[in-house]
Amino acid sequence: MYNPLTGENEMAPVLDAKVHDEARQGEALLLETASKHNGRKLYIESYGCAMNFSDSEIVASIMTDMGFETTANYKEADVVFINTCSIRENAEQKVRNRLREFGAVKKQNRGLIVGVLGCMAERLKAKFLEEEKLVDVVVGPDSYRDLPNLIGSVDDGNKAVNVLLSREETYADINPVRLNSNGITAFVSIMRGCDNMCSFCVVPFTRGRERSRDPHSIVNEVRDLFNEGYREVTLLGQNVDSYKWTNEEETQRVNFAGLLELVAAVDPELRVRFSTSHPKDITDEVLFTIAKHDNICNYIHLPVQSGNSRVLDLMNRTYDREWYMERVSAIRRIIPECAISTDVITGFCTETEEEHQETLSMMDYVQYDFAYMFMYSERPGTLAAKRYTDDIPEDVKLRRLQEVVAKQQQHSHGRLKLQLGKVQKVLIEGFSKKSKLHYAGRNDHNAMVVFPVHDNYKPGQYAYVLAEECTTATLLGKIVD
Ligand code: SAH
Ligand code: SF4
Ligand code: F3S
Repeated sequence: MYNPLTGENEMAPVLDAKVHDEARQGEALLLETASKHNGRKLYIESYGCAMNFSDSEIVASIMTDMGFETTANYKEADVVFINTCSIRENAEQKVRNRLREFGAVKKQNRGLIVGVLGCMAERLKAKFLEEEKLVDVVVGPDSYRDLPNLIGSVDDGNKAVNVLLSREETYADINPVRLNSNGITAFVSIMRGCDNMCSFCVVPFTRGRERSRDPHSIVNEVRDLFNEGYREVTLLGQNVDSYKWTNEEETQRVNFAGLLELVAAVDPELRVRFSTSHPKDITDEVLFTIAKHDNICNYIHLPVQSGNSRVLDLMNRTYDREWYMERVSAIRRIIPECAISTDVITGFCTETEEEHQETLSMMDYVQYDFAYMFMYSERPGTLAAKRYTDDIPEDVKLRRLQEVVAKQQQHSHGRLKLQLGKVQKVLIEGFSKKSKLHYAGRNDHNAMVVFPVHDNYKPGQYAYVLAEECTTATLLGKIVD
């Protein structure tokens, strides 16, 4: 008898019975999902950081439980959600432009429900409904469990808002529906919110207080992913090094190093990444844990923001230039081959030319593998908006940004060139964007590696690739057996 679950022909009667049973269960499952479908479709689009993308998977799960099916085409949707980011002004502008496009669809389809989720929803709250008339529902990042009520209320002809922030919500029990997934790499949220008060940053206001998710639920989610064929997880938090969980009896405590140990132990074939590390909190214990486990990637995202101590103080980052350099030398000492990336802001309030030069010299000191670089954008309600004047002219911010970008391009290229002639362990994620004749995947350092397709390998497997050439951002090579 053919077993659709194993793809094999099985003859033994005892197995027959089992197969029959499983087939019946499959039928029941189909009937159940069919009756659960409400015939309505959800389209969801995400902006901002990985945490927002991960939250959209929680939202998709809650909406699927309500009977919605997801669609990749907003024109055929009954509900359109946009999961928004407030980090810089242009992030918000993008959302407003996109809402115009949804507005055009709504004119033709009067029943269409448009919802704004995430950080911009939290920042603007009910004001959003006044500013953007086409919006029906506004939902903050801690209120997704309330979606059934909120959608019900909109179905009854009302507008609906829930932007309550929580001290406990981690959505630990919700099984995310993976969206746009390659089936190989996944994000797993380990904590929410942020208790730091970097003066430029809107996140503490849009995401609320920091809270850590139960490690058992994290490990279970990671194990399920591995069993489904995923081979890489990225543990997400605004400041993963301050992960801290204690059980109710206070007999078990887990910090970030402990969590890394637990996740790495799920399977040696599972790669573990994490983001973001805060320079003030990253400990030697975490570095030794990374060094100890082959499957924890040698890659740390350690945003510096500025290389000058006075600016760092104004930013309220709570470390100075020397502290940051010491943490980088600890990384180099404990994990010699580790890749480091960063975030940089140019033109923060009162930043002088000399102070900007210190950011450039910090980049020379660290030799970052990769960087995300931004011009300072004042955000309403933040400490910097209240205390300081956004006094660096846009053209100066831009020129400084261009200098930072140019330097980073040299460093990224230089760091990639160090890999030439070396064999890289690559997790194949799929075909390269440019050609079906090539595979693409990342090495331990998070660098993209492209190489010709090989019959013995498929996506989801590891391959050893000799790096022969590189562009500014990609290594090119071939599989070596
Ligand atoms: N939690 C992370 C950062 C999250 S926001 C950390 O502490 O490093 C991602 C990046 O956006 C920040 O690192 C910073 O470089 C940038 N950013 C945040 N607020 C900004 C602002 N107001 N203007 C410009 N860039 C900003
Ligand atoms: Fe924002 Fe600072 Fe928190 Fe990062 S650590 S999210 S920059 S407040
Ligand atoms: Fe943006 Fe919110 Fe993330 S402001 S960067 S989506 S936490």
